[in-house]
Amino acid sequence: MKPTRHLFTAIYNRRSVRHFKPDPIPPAILHQIVEAARWAPSGGNSQAHVFGIVTDEKKKRALAQAAGGQMWIAEAPVVIACCAKLYKPEEESEFSQEVNRLRWGKEAYDWFLSCPNPYHMALLFMNSTPLIPGAHIQLAAAAHGIGSCWIGYLDIAQASDILQLPEDVRCYFLMPLGYPAEDKRRPRKPLSELTFHDTWNQSWDAATAYPSFGQLVLRPYQPADEDAWLATWAQVAVTSRAWVTLHQRKPSYKREALELVAEYNGELVGFMDVEVETELGELGYAKDSCCGFVWELGVRPDHQGEGIAKRMIAAAQEWLSARNIRRMEFWSMDQRAQGFYEHLGMQELERHWQFYTSLPQDVTQRMREQDKFGLQVAFGNCPIDELPVLNEKYGVREPLICVGYDYRW
Ligand SMILES: Cc1cc2nc3c(=O)[nH]c(=O)nc-3n(C[C@H](O)[C@H](O)[C@H](O)COP(=O)(O)O)c2cc1C
Repeated sequence: MKPTRHLFTAIYNRRSVRHFKPDPIPPAILHQIVEAARWAPSGGNSQAHVFGIVTDEKKKRALAQAAGGQMWIAEAPVVIACCAKLYKPEEESEFSQEVNRLRWGKEAYDWFLSCPNPYHMALLFMNSTPLIPGAHIQLAAAAHGIGSCWIGYLDIAQASDILQLPEDVRCYFLMPLGYPAEDKRRPRKPLSELTFHDTWNQSWDAATAYPSFGQLVLRPYQPADEDAWLATWAQVAVTSRAWVTLHQRKPSYKREALELVAEYNGELVGFMDVEVETELGELGYAKDSCCGFVWELGVRPDHQGEGIAKRMIAAAQEWLSARNIRRMEFWSMDQRAQGFYEHLGMQELERHWQFYTSLPQDVTQRMREQDKFGLQVAFGNCPIDELPVLNEKYGVREPLICVGYDYRW
């Protein structure tokens, strides 16, 4: 199963989907999506929204007919009928009347009140009731990679008949849900066209000051990023064999270092730390020139394969070039990382085993007795050929080959 998306990525990746795969939506996921609607806000917490979960093929086809014959709707494994429970016009509360007068103005509201069929007024006024909970449904679905589409081109009376709704419940919109069989992004106006600051004629500076969604931003790490950095690091570290110790603080460096983060839709999705070697042999394995030693490099799992690591490496290259450094060293025990470095044309410098082991019991016992030193974990390394001998002698656990790569330009 694909990982769930973070909020802003889900917002950015949501599209109206009009062609679905037949794959069913797992019930627990569908429940979570509809539960998201339950927590939507509503005027006076009236919670007048009701959602029909329609999976019956005949009913889905009938609803698609009621939607002006948009028959693709029936392709979706689930169609949500977004309904509202109408208030009886004569039962409208004093407060609701007061709110309506304030909002629409007395003249308009009185005109509505005098309409020949008071039911029509409630019908129109309740149109917006399913919209916010429906938006929750749409975004919750997007977070699971499930596509949806608002359907407002709908014969409300006909759809409500098909669903056998009581007179005071109307189906205002349909929302087909399913795994997308198409992916089409529609353009958006720039934020500057959609905003103003204080009054109509003033533009909101922030609209153009920051990158729009969909752009990858590489920028220096700032102390305020620490929580997001650690959260991103943790997601990368649990899906990689590259790290053996847990970071609970963002690592910092003695020497000058590039601490880079990659941001997408305002979310931290990648990181790269490169420390500059100032004296030959201090950090690097190759001894012919000082390097930028790469301590940390990772991309959040849901953004891997998008060229983010490559972009960070290129930025590090540029930063190091400005300091007259023309090579980087990358070390990793993670096979995917090794494959990636090889794919980028890096040259192997060295390889060795790294593993957990236990010291012989007489040694650990002596340490405990003499120095009160209880040694629990020993992590070591050895040349490639030595592993069988060491294994025999000490026993090694989880051995992994660590490969060092040299990247020059
Ligand atoms: C209230 C509402 C009603 C809509 N009704 C329909 C509809 O009946 N049929 C349809 O194909 N799309 C419908 N749409 C989807 C819009 O066409 C779509 O959201 C818009 O073109 C932007 O594309 P995007 O959602 O992929 O970004 C509706 C959207 C909204 C918000």
